[in-house]
Amino acid sequence: MGAREFRSSRLRNHDVITFAIDHKHLAGLARARLVEDFFVEVSRVGQLRNRSDLTSLVASIEPQSLQRMLATMTSFGRRGGRSYAVFVKQDRDRPLHRKEVSKRLDQEIRLQFPRWRANDPAACEFWVFWNKTASVNLRLTTETFKYRDDAPSERFGSLRPTVAAAVVDALDCRNGSRIVDPMCGSGTLLVEALARGYRADGFDSDPEAVSIASRRLGNRSAVAPARADETFSAYDGLVVNVPWGGEFEAVDPVRTVAKWRLVPRCIVLVEREAPWRRAFENAGYGVRVVDSILIRGRWANVLRADR
Ligand SMILES: C[S@@+](CC[C@H](N)C(=O)[O-])C[C@H]1O[C@@H](n2cnc3c(N)ncnc32)[C@H](O)[C@@H]1O
Repeated sequence: MGAREFRSSRLRNHDVITFAIDHKHLAGLARARLVEDFFVEVSRVGQLRNRSDLTSLVASIEPQSLQRMLATMTSFGRRGGRSYAVFVKQDRDRPLHRKEVSKRLDQEIRLQFPRWRANDPAACEFWVFWNKTASVNLRLTTETFKYRDDAPSERFGSLRPTVAAAVVDALDCRNGSRIVDPMCGSGTLLVEALARGYRADGFDSDPEAVSIASRRLGNRSAVAPARADETFSAYDGLVVNVPWGGEFEAVDPVRTVAKWRLVPRCIVLVEREAPWRRAFENAGYGVRVVDSILIRGRWANVLRADR
């Protein structure tokens, strides 16, 4: 899609990646699965130290381009409307107070849109991202974007959809391949696998998980109780996040990998990589770490094991 000039930075509780993209490709971003929120920048200053920088930040909001960006919001499922809200997110406290920043931006919005009213939730959200530089951004996505318009799963240990998407990305199998998650929990990896064009089935030893995943996936996937005699021989790929972090009983890597040994490619999200690597290597797989992901403050590794 021609996105370019990627840069990443951190705000409190947020990782921000900025990039440039042609306006005509903006709507296509609504299909992205590795991102939790999209914003479009409407103005920026190199630094925000005082009121004169603040005036520059607000004065460089161009009414015409703002109108164009407001029209783009509908591609992301936001309904237009005349209510707005302003949020200021910064990396740390600064001498110029964020309330002053939000008040000044609020005044500008009311000047440009005299019939709009402040509200929360609002049809239009303006977010100031303020670290070394400061920018005003319009939020394109809705609250539900990160959960794929689904309610967040309340089952303990469920992955965030963006993390599941990153794990499924590592499969890299042909479209239509048969994929299995042998410990599917609420089925988040299966949802992502289906979204990539795979056929995907799940198993779990916990009847509650089987019932949640079956309800969520309907007839798109077969979800069944785990069976001791299942060999998984019908599958081209396996994707799983094995229980870790003390929330479920730990599983033994050697015995578990022995059950999966007929699957040509396995993608496993694990916290402790070494015992799983050893178990796969001893079962005749070549293993590499393809990704590391920070989950609830702990690093997990995505291992890819190929026969
Ligand atoms: C971390 S959760 C999976 C979460 C899932 N990926 C999601 O996003 O909802 C691990 C799952 O493994 C299941 N499990 C644990 N041991 C198992 C076993 N031996 N066979 C099958 N499932 C097992 C647990 O019941 C739990 O649902």
